[in-house]
Amino acid sequence: MDYLSLIESPISTELEEFKQLFGSSLASSNPLLNQVTAHLRRRSGKMMRPMLVLLTAKLYGKVNQSTLHAAVALELLHTASLVHDDVVDESNERRGQPSVNAAFNNKVAVLTGDYMLSTALMQVGMTRNFEIFDVVSQLGQELADGELLQLSNVSNMQFSIDTYFEIIRKKTAVLFEACTKSGALSVISCDEMVEKARKLGEYIGLCFQIKDDIFDYYDNSAIGKPTGNDMLEGKLTLPVLYALNVTRDEEAAAIAMKVKNGAATSDEIARLVRFTKENGGIEYAVKSMNSFRERAHELLKEFEESSVKTALLAYLDYVIDRTK
Ligand code: IPE
Ligand code: IPE
Ligand code: MG
Ligand code: MG
Repeated sequence: MDYLSLIESPISTELEEFKQLFGSSLASSNPLLNQVTAHLRRRSGKMMRPMLVLLTAKLYGKVNQSTLHAAVALELLHTASLVHDDVVDESNERRGQPSVNAAFNNKVAVLTGDYMLSTALMQVGMTRNFEIFDVVSQLGQELADGELLQLSNVSNMQFSIDTYFEIIRKKTAVLFEACTKSGALSVISCDEMVEKARKLGEYIGLCFQIKDDIFDYYDNSAIGKPTGNDMLEGKLTLPVLYALNVTRDEEAAAIAMKVKNGAATSDEIARLVRFTKENGGIEYAVKSMNSFRERAHELLKEFEESSVKTALLAYLDYVIDRTK
């Protein structure tokens, strides 16, 4: 079986219930909003976050209404953050179609993103679970904090791998942590078990963003969003940071500085990408992902064999081997 079938097979009924609830959560009488949600629904994402909520809940118990509302809230929050992200990054493609800002405009994207965020909060409320409420409200703050940190890091003079990890922890891993934590909290309340779930989400999320950052070094129209954008936006990710730190190459460092200042030409960016590949940057990032996979495996070792455990292992493999 392929990864996705393995991931979905123990939660297929629950995933259908999730999709129903997700669709109805955005029903509105506002025509413009309906146009935007119809546009978004034409191409759904990979549903990585809701699948993770459902799987974690099922690892510890039985999916219930709180689990489903938490899954809807987190997918809404994720989608809203992408709609806003494409405004911030001035990006015109998402999920293989025009981004909301491209299909409509920035104002519409900001406002519908806000609407979806508020809808996410309503959905958390419907979990009737205060601990899940704490998780998601903290999450909103951390995500924005991560994006702001990334923005301010563009203009400083450092090529810091530690800062890179701080950024991806905040902008991506916390969302995966929120998924596993909420999934767990919807069925149990044991602190130790919830903490295990949180860690699992953290490792998965770190892998997820490192993989996403590796994509950016290759041309690939199948990903459904532009590649080669990170450096254009002044962002230096793990592969190039590693190559810069390990070689201390002055010419590459000078180009990297220009990247951060938004002054590098496309030719220079291409050179820096080549430099990264020639100096083991991609291999290092892959190794780093694999070390997080190992840690996740360690955590999962303690659980009995089951289709849910198999699905979570497949989920990890999918995050690392995926092609979009
Ligand atoms: C994109 O997430 C944002 C990142 C954290 C890199 P996904 O790749 O899961 O987006 P969709 O939901 O499948 O489009
Ligand atoms: C996506 O971040 C949004 C969040 C992780 C909050 P990026 O700007 O790095 O990702 P893409 O490439 O646009 O999906
Ligand atoms: Mg961004
Ligand atoms: Mg972006």
